[in-house]
Amino acid sequence: MNVRLLIALRDIGMRSVTSTVQSWHATFRAFKQQPYVYSYRANMMLLRSSVIRRVVKRYARHLLQRTQTFVETFPAQSIQDIVTQPQLSKYHFTQLYALCRLLRPRVVVETGVGLGTSSFFMLQALEDNGVGTLYSIDKPYAEYHSDAGILINESAYCAHGDQPGMLVPPELRDRWRLVLGNSHALLPRLCERLGGLDLFFHDSEHTYRNMVQEYTVVWPHLRACGVLASHDVEWNTAFQDFADTVMRLPIVSRNVGLIRASELARIN
Ligand SMILES: C[S@@+](CC[C@H](N)C(=O)[O-])C[C@H]1O[C@@H](n2cnc3c(N)ncnc32)[C@H](O)[C@@H]1O
Repeated sequence: MNVRLLIALRDIGMRSVTSTVQSWHATFRAFKQQPYVYSYRANMMLLRSSVIRRVVKRYARHLLQRTQTFVETFPAQSIQDIVTQPQLSKYHFTQLYALCRLLRPRVVVETGVGLGTSSFFMLQALEDNGVGTLYSIDKPYAEYHSDAGILINESAYCAHGDQPGMLVPPELRDRWRLVLGNSHALLPRLCERLGGLDLFFHDSEHTYRNMVQEYTVVWPHLRACGVLASHDVEWNTAFQDFADTVMRLPIVSRNVGLIRASELARIN
């Protein structure tokens, strides 16, 4: 892994974005072979480096361009298409881009911004649709214990004095409302204020209690065509249990889950 990392670093000044992306892919592939928590910690350690964060920025932009081209060439017909399409289901943010293009949401809410990859991809989709606003809640430097008792420290996302969402470019920020604080306190108030939501994406604290709490708060505010999406649904059974509670059949691909507000909604 270290050799691959050194290659990725060396590449920054010397090679094209494409070749940087290829070696960065190799680094991620190496991580993926490790047990999840190891890979989480390794990612966090890497993110502390400002050089790595610059690579991630270029990588995200490159990936977004590829996703945009793909979605425009092969427009998804249904949510099922999005989650089963290999080009899109590889990363949650490419799925989110396609989902936003399909749903054409007016109001999107997410919890958990980090570097802002998901925000970046959803904002670009809203911009490409010409409609919609993204409301994001993030508590920088969050620290919590997972249900398995592992300490999750998210401070690397805000290393180097960055605000959450350092990947979001200035030209997309007009459609973005970032609220800093604990989702537990802020999400209910935000949902009340917005009146209705078309898409919700959970990616903050992945404890059973917090996940169920966020889903439960958001659910009554989702419009008929709305979708509740969650990252890291494999961390515990919160997502499946919630789907059972609201009697919906969830769509799960890798560690992303989607639940439609109404099974009868036309677009789905
Ligand atoms: C995994 S990152 C989000 C990644 C992002 N969604 C993406 O796809 O690029 C998780 C973020 O959630 C934040 N967070 C953790 N617990 C939170 C909470 N209770 N309320 C709000 N944000 C929280 C962390 O500080 C971190 O920035």
